[in-house]
Amino acid sequence: MEIERDTLIAAARDAAAKAYAPYSHFHVGAALGFADGTVVTGANVENASYGLTLCAETAAAARAMNDGQRGGLIAVAVAGGKDGIAANPVTPCGRCRQVLSELAHLGGTDPVVLCVGASETFEYSLSELLPGAFGPASLS
Ligand code: THU
Repeated sequence: MEIERDTLIAAARDAAAKAYAPYSHFHVGAALGFADGTVVTGANVENASYGLTLCAETAAAARAMNDGQRGGLIAVAVAGGKDGIAANPVTPCGRCRQVLSELAHLGGTDPVVLCVGASETFEYSLSELLPGAFGPASLS
């Protein structure tokens, strides 16, 4: 990974502090690392209409796309919990896996996904988390 693992994890932890999560009190931060060295972060944004909540990874992906990123996604870190970082690493929800997959597909990458817990970090590839993904090619 070209971006330092610890740098990306720290960015995800910092992002979690900016979460708007007054309902679940579960603050999640995500940091997306790109091949050009760019790091784009996001945090969950909850809503009084609970189902409209945006997850951290989706917020970060939308931000990256709006910044003009179209691929080059090489690493993702996710960190969160109720009181700081949870003991059990947070893994991206199903919708977020699909959203991240779209961005990854654009650049033909299979990013490392670092799921950060208080005492351990799980490391997956996105294709491991979302095998047989539906992607742009599925539409042709
Ligand atoms: N959440 C995320 O931000 N990312 C995930 O991958 C899982 C869940 C958020 C959504 C909600 O605000 C809170 O965590 C509790 O589900």
